[in-house]
Amino acid sequence: MTVSEVQERDPLPAGSGGRVGEASIGNTGLVVEPASMVIFGITGDLARKKLVPAIYDLVHGGQLPPDFDLVGFARDSTDVETRLREAVIAHARTPFDTSVWAALTERIHFVQGSFDDTAAFAGLAARLVELDVRRGKSGNYVFYLSVPPSSFASVCDQLAICGLNRSAHGWRRVVVEKPFGHDLASSQSLGVALERVFPPSSIYRIDHYLGKETVQNILALRFANGMFEPLWNNRHIDHVQITMAESVGVSGRAGYYDGVGAARDVIQNHLLQLLALIAMEEPVAFDADSIAAEKIKVLSATELLGPLAETSARGQYGAGVENGVPIPGLADEAGFPADSATETFAALTVGIATRRWAGVPFFIRTGKRLARRTAEIAVTLIPPAHGSPAARAAAVSNVLVFRVQPDDGIELHIGAKRPGGGMHIQPVSLGMDFRSVFDPAPEAYERLICDVLRGDATLFPRREEVECSWRVIDPLLEHWAGFGRPDNYPSGSAGPESAERILSRTGREWRSL
Ligand code: BG6
Repeated sequence: MTVSEVQERDPLPAGSGGRVGEASIGNTGLVVEPASMVIFGITGDLARKKLVPAIYDLVHGGQLPPDFDLVGFARDSTDVETRLREAVIAHARTPFDTSVWAALTERIHFVQGSFDDTAAFAGLAARLVELDVRRGKSGNYVFYLSVPPSSFASVCDQLAICGLNRSAHGWRRVVVEKPFGHDLASSQSLGVALERVFPPSSIYRIDHYLGKETVQNILALRFANGMFEPLWNNRHIDHVQITMAESVGVSGRAGYYDGVGAARDVIQNHLLQLLALIAMEEPVAFDADSIAAEKIKVLSATELLGPLAETSARGQYGAGVENGVPIPGLADEAGFPADSATETFAALTVGIATRRWAGVPFFIRTGKRLARRTAEIAVTLIPPAHGSPAARAAAVSNVLVFRVQPDDGIELHIGAKRPGGGMHIQPVSLGMDFRSVFDPAPEAYERLICDVLRGDATLFPRREEVECSWRVIDPLLEHWAGFGRPDNYPSGSAGPESAERILSRTGREWRSL
């Protein structure tokens, strides 16, 4: 099968704004354009586990144009093709098909070099022009920086030296992966380094949570239905809990994770983006500019609620047992110093200083090696205030849960009368499992790579969003840096006790893990 035969299959549902019933909102008119994508760091973890498998899945599903080329740039190009094949077999969503792989490998090319090697970048430029001429393409290039942030500036500078950042014909887009800095100041410097070379509209910052279907569904659910918005404010909502719990640890990732920790790894980006989607006002249109404008507004109004010693917690997993097998604590993981102060669990409380949200706490938590893997947003409503004392005692707090993973779906918890005599109210749940209603969704990276090729920046956080998020968590990081070590929690638990206290002091409790 050739790429063009694969191409004839059904296209990816257009419009990253999502489809609501029969109606589409968002940038539905954009198409995936012929282009060459250069992945810097093609032999790294992210490229092998996520990017190349996603590109394979896109080819498998006929989503990429026949003249798409993938150029891998790496220091060591020995056996790259075999390594990528193994990665695709292990990590692609769709089954491995030798004809699809053969079609893709015809389009994969390699350039060897380091990220400060001007001669290698000149070779890259020549290779891209050659591919344009060979296929009659017009010079559309995506530069995917799957490299540590310390190499961003060097790669960008080399691209500029070789004139690859601008073009009289075709477009140039650069994709960067988090972490977007270490704090506000470093994030601003990174922004400056990128914008020295590429205009802001050509910079795509990947936050893969925004490529997840349930996350995109937050906006569809809120704004395409009539029943939620009237309740979406501090008169009806008691609090919101945002949880991202993982059962895996950080073994093998010391190089990245030590000194970064849970708050920088996922709260600054994924979880504050979820908060922005839950709390933002309705955009005037479902396009990149309008959605970004609303996210920026709500993130600018977001602030930590204190006192931080009581409203936040951090922890580090200790040893534990999983399925009868002992598992090491962080301090015993390879690459982590025994006295590492890196937190693997973080919880905090934020408020949003707007008329809609004043007084509603948002509790956010994340952790590694917790009891189970889950990512969800739970919006808890204020229980009904009126009625007899007995009715008040029986009243329940309705909870609307957006389940991002696993088993993405939506749940609504309500109270219902138990059958039989008397009026006994029992909490029951109404649920919708996306997988039982819709076809399997593409992986987040498939969606996001397609959006870059389509030029749709809706699902990519802007520099201002990133900076607003650092502004929220920087004071907490400074507070933690000021004293002690994270609290210990056993692997397989719900986190440190100090996290329980954040909610119990307010008379609430975390949803169980
Ligand atoms: C990444 C973090 O951004 O997200 C990882 O760096 C984390 O630490 C991962 O494990 C989780 O992603 P997902 O999609 O599996 O929830």
